[in-house]
Amino acid sequence: MSRPQHFGWFLARGFGPHGWGHPYLDWDYDWTRPELYQQSARELEQAGFDFVLIEDAPSLGSPETIDLRVRHAFGGPKHDPLLLAPYLFQATRHLGVIPTVNPAAYLPYTAARQFSTLQHLSAGRLGLNVVTDTGSARHFGDAPPLGHDAAYDRAEEWLAGVRDLWRSWGEGALVRDAASGVYADGSRLEAVRHRGEHFAFDGPLNAIPLDRGQPVIASPGGSGRGLAFAGANSDIQLALAPLTEKSVREYRARIHAAAVERGRAPGDIRIMFAIQPVIVSSAEEADRLVAASAHPADDVLRQIAQKQSSDLETDLTTLDLDAPLPAALFAEHVSQGSLRRLTGDRDVATTPLRAHLTALARLGRIADRSGFVGTAEEFADLVEELGEWGNDGVLLWGDLHPVTVHRTLDELVPILRRRGILRREYTGQGLHADLRAF
Ligand SMILES: Cc1cc2nc3c(=O)[nH]c(=O)nc-3n(C[C@H](O)[C@H](O)[C@H](O)COP(=O)(O)O)c2cc1C
Repeated sequence: MSRPQHFGWFLARGFGPHGWGHPYLDWDYDWTRPELYQQSARELEQAGFDFVLIEDAPSLGSPETIDLRVRHAFGGPKHDPLLLAPYLFQATRHLGVIPTVNPAAYLPYTAARQFSTLQHLSAGRLGLNVVTDTGSARHFGDAPPLGHDAAYDRAEEWLAGVRDLWRSWGEGALVRDAASGVYADGSRLEAVRHRGEHFAFDGPLNAIPLDRGQPVIASPGGSGRGLAFAGANSDIQLALAPLTEKSVREYRARIHAAAVERGRAPGDIRIMFAIQPVIVSSAEEADRLVAASAHPADDVLRQIAQKQSSDLETDLTTLDLDAPLPAALFAEHVSQGSLRRLTGDRDVATTPLRAHLTALARLGRIADRSGFVGTAEEFADLVEELGEWGNDGVLLWGDLHPVTVHRTLDELVPILRRRGILRREYTGQGLHADLRAF
C-alpha cells in the first residue's frame, strides 16, 4: 500500500479576478460573490482535500507600478480572504480553509479574537498562512518597512502574543454550570502583559478557550530565516523546490532540523510541495502540448512578460526581447525569489530576455520529470514517489474555479484513492486532527 498524502488546493492569485482573460469566465460566475468559491470548495471536500489555501497581498505594491499590477489583474485587485472563509466553512463540513495573513496588518489582540471566533464558528477548520511581505508597510503606518529577517522576527513575536492570548483562559476558567448559574471563573483568567519589540498589549482575551486546538499555522518562506520560522511555529510548510529525491529529502531535513532546534518534533510539521500540474487525457496529448511550447511565438512571450512585470513590479513589456536585461533594472524591494524564477541559472548580463521568457513558456512532461504535463496516472506516480521519499503532501496550485478543479481532479481522484494515496474519510475533528491522522 502506498503512503497516504495530504492534499491542499492553493488559490495562487488570491481572492480577486483570477483567471481574467480565460475563456471559462463565460461561465458567468462573479468573483466578488461567494458562490464560485463555495462550489469549488464542495468539490475539494468531495475529493478528500485537507484544505484550500488562499494567497493574499493587502497592497497593490509600489505607487509607481500600480498600473502593471492591475492592468491585466495579475497583482490585484484582491479582496480579503479572511472574510471569504466563513462562506466556505458554511458550504462545507470538513474542508480546512487557510487564508493568508500578514502580521503587519493585524494587531495581536484583534488577530487572536477574530481567529478564535472563526475557529469556533468552523468547529476547528481554520488555518492561517503567515507571510512577512513588507511591500504593504506604508498602508499600516509611516514607519519604514522592516528588513527581511526583522519581518520574520516581528511575525514570531506576533504569533507568540496571539498564542498567549488564546491560552489566557486557564484550566477550569470556563465553567458553564447551569445549576449554579456560573458561566466562567474570572479568577482563572490570565492578564497576559506583553511588552515586546514590536507590540505592546494586555489580555486576557474576550473569547472562550479553543476546544479543538488553535488554528493551524502554515508558512511559505524558503529562506534560512523562513525555514527557521516554520521549524519554530508551523503545522504546515508550503515548499517550493525541485522535485528530485535529493532536493526533497534535503528540504525536509532542513525543516526538521529547524523544528528540533526549537524543541519540537519533526512529525509536528507537514511539508507539502507546491505543484501546478496540467492533467491531460493521454500521453500523446501531453507530448503535443510540450512540443507546441518549445518555440513560443512573440505574442506568447509578451503575455509572459506582462505577468512577470506585475510580479516583479518592473515593466518588461517595452524591453527588446533580443537584448539582455538592462543593468540596475530592478529596484531593491523586488522579490529575489521572483527574480530567480525569471532568470534561473542563466547569466543575466549576456542572456537575452527572450531566453528567460522562453524558459518560462516551455512545458515539460511529468513522465520524465522535466515538467508537470501528464496523465492522471503519471501525476499519481509522481505523488507516490514523493511519498516514498518520506513526503507528507502536495499543494495543487491554480485558480479556484469549478472548471479548473474538475479538469485537474476528475480522473486523478479515483486513481489516487485506488492506490491508497488520497483519504476517503475525514476525522470529523477539525483540520489539526485531519493533518495528524497520517
Ligand atoms: C506556495 C507559496 C505560497 C505563498 N503565498 C504567499 C502569499 O499568499 N502572500 C505573500 O505575500 N507571499 C506568499 N508567498 C511568498 C512567501 O511568503 C515569501 O515571500 C517568499 O517565499 C520569500 O520568503 P523567503 O525569503 O523566506 O523565501 C508564497 C510562497 C509560496 C512558495
